Amino acid sequence: MIVFNEEDKIFHLSNKYISYILKIDEYNQLLHIYFGKKIQNSNFSHLVEYAKRAMASCPSMDKNNNSYEHMRQEYPQYGHGDMREGAYEFIHNYGSNVCQFEYKCYEITRGKKKIKGLPTVETVECDTLSITLEDKILNSQIILYYSIFDEEACISRRVEVKNFSDSPLKIEKLLSMSLDFYDNQYEMIDLYGAWSRERYIERHKLHYGKQSISSMRGHSSNNFNPFFALARKETTENIGECFGFALVYSGNFEADVYVDTYDVTRVMFGIESSTFGWTLNKNEIFYAPESILVYSNEGFNKMSNVFHKVINKYLIRDKWKNKVRPILINNWEATYFDFNEEKIIEIATIAKEMGVELFVLDDGWFGKRNDDTSSLGDWFVNYDKIPSGINGLSEKIHDLGLQFGIWIEPEMININSNLYNEHPNWLVGDKNYLISQSRNQFILDFSNDEVVDYIFKLLDNVLKDSKIDYIKWDMNRSISEAYSQNLNATSQKEFFHRYILGVYSLYEKLISKYPDILFESCASGGARFDLGMLYYAPQTWTSDNTDAIERLKIQYGTSMLYPLCTMGSHISAIPNHQLFRNTPLNTRANVAFFGTFGLELDVTKLKNEEILEISKYIEFMKDYRKIIQFGDFYRLINPFESNRCAWMVVSEKKDIAIVGVYKILQNVNGPYEKINLQGLDKNKKYTVNSKYECYGDELMNYGLVISDEGSGERSGSYKIEKGDFSSMIYLIKEKEEV
Ligand code: DGJ
Repeated sequence: MIVFNEEDKIFHLSNKYISYILKIDEYNQLLHIYFGKKIQNSNFSHLVEYAKRAMASCPSMDKNNNSYEHMRQEYPQYGHGDMREGAYEFIHNYGSNVCQFEYKCYEITRGKKKIKGLPTVETVECDTLSITLEDKILNSQIILYYSIFDEEACISRRVEVKNFSDSPLKIEKLLSMSLDFYDNQYEMIDLYGAWSRERYIERHKLHYGKQSISSMRGHSSNNFNPFFALARKETTENIGECFGFALVYSGNFEADVYVDTYDVTRVMFGIESSTFGWTLNKNEIFYAPESILVYSNEGFNKMSNVFHKVINKYLIRDKWKNKVRPILINNWEATYFDFNEEKIIEIATIAKEMGVELFVLDDGWFGKRNDDTSSLGDWFVNYDKIPSGINGLSEKIHDLGLQFGIWIEPEMININSNLYNEHPNWLVGDKNYLISQSRNQFILDFSNDEVVDYIFKLLDNVLKDSKIDYIKWDMNRSISEAYSQNLNATSQKEFFHRYILGVYSLYEKLISKYPDILFESCASGGARFDLGMLYYAPQTWTSDNTDAIERLKIQYGTSMLYPLCTMGSHISAIPNHQLFRNTPLNTRANVAFFGTFGLELDVTKLKNEEILEISKYIEFMKDYRKIIQFGDFYRLINPFESNRCAWMVVSEKKDIAIVGVYKILQNVNGPYEKINLQGLDKNKKYTVNSKYECYGDELMNYGLVISDEGSGERSGSYKIEKGDFSSMIYLIKEKEEV
């Protein structure tokens, strides 16, 4: 619901859970009043506080208590009395960056629509407020959009700029949201990392001044994810207040938390401004990406739960909404580049017998690609390796009863390729200087529509005659020497945003022609795991690190924002290819269950008993994937803080729960251990692994006992399942009435 108090000019957006309140002041500026737990509607004018403060710049001669530096603002501009960082900056044709956007009008509509060319949350289950601000001198408008969802503690915000002037409008900075919190008693939580250790959780107290995370690599990155949260010191997974913020965008971003010396906390999120600039011509519109704001007063688990619901209900495209993900086998760690058609068919045949549903042919099927030095850009089959071609192989795999998918890396080019010989100017980089390679590859200029169209045609040639059900879209390097030969000298700062628009446009082209193909995005694993990608590709290869124990941290951190159905997770071989670690097969499965689940190993080399064991795991996943991928997920024990990890999912009806408990290192002669489960029905009677019965309140309040007897005392009775890296799945089912 959105109400507007005409007299006091206050907007109140609210649903069952949250309120968001803002006001237009006497100078037609927007002030922020509140975002948090729902409060009843009334007149909130008295919540705007004023203070006389020395050195403050005020807008009029008759008052000296209303400096914008000391007012909480909704979408601030730097320099108009407010000396904090602003959310936007425009330059007049005479060089000034001073402007004054004032409230002009508002509109309230039902539902929200897609933004042109950008991934967007789409639904009719929300109300949308748009507020138009206008600068008469610039002859331009900023339109702020707020959508409040009917059923979730969530608001989305985005911004558009329209230029009506004959002179082009130079945009130097345009963030997607800004918000001033009343105080600074928060901690910031973000997801940091690197290749193979993506999305580790960091939590720190706010300090005065600016703390920020960002990416300037041309992709959202594995260094920092476009997500952060603010939480009270006492907030845990299950109690306390927190606010989560995420950006529906895959390119450069910045997330800034700025605490001023009066303890106000300003939060801002959007496209990274130092690598961005845009010239907006007459009657053009610039669309800033959407941001998602979530409130929870039941800790981080609730915050994640709301994000998961919003992503699953409103972001993932219709075809894949609430649809279980196929169990796949990918040949990368089985063969790397060294395969032929025969080997592929051999793997697929055994995988089919094990219950796998989809075969994915990874890197190496095209051009002359036998290692990573050549052929990116040459998207036509290598008949030496695959004599039947992709169309023939896809038929054969389908004849086995499996779906078929291929790997592509469309944004990249090797110098050693036909594409480079034909189009050397399509490389990103300044030819007057060295252009850095990374994994022997270079970036194709996706800011150029001609390049995007050309790559679409090449891919279309492969897809149109073949039975392709799935595409793994990889992207294995960051963008360096970001210079486009396609853009003129004054537009170079548009490159990064135009590049990502090019990526989105290729996705749009492919999806509109091939709506049934399931895309899995990948960037050396999880270097572009973001809400922008999920709009097109409903799942992401979470990490190149397939070691089960390392995956605990990666999947635990990733779950802060992303639902399990989006996280690619596979059983791989031991010793693990990244860590050289040996983990029991059941632990590798018990970790992979909490994601999309698949295999990434050479099944032709497995022993019979291993094939049977994995087949049982596949059966288990088929039985329970609906609950795992779309149920309510709870983090229970944090692997960053202890020698254990545990998490669980609960079905919507609360009749089934699946708990994964993982021991990192075995302790000797340790204490008894139990975990307090979450989300069950306290009055339901459950059976635990068909072994005993108890009520939901026992499992939540006393806890699930997870102690084991393995104290290391009798080595003769030691079993690998009980020692280091061991794990257990607890299947908790409502007891059926007889
Ligand atoms: C990086 C990916 O993350 C891997 O899974 C694999 O697809 C390789 N690229 C192939 O080059």
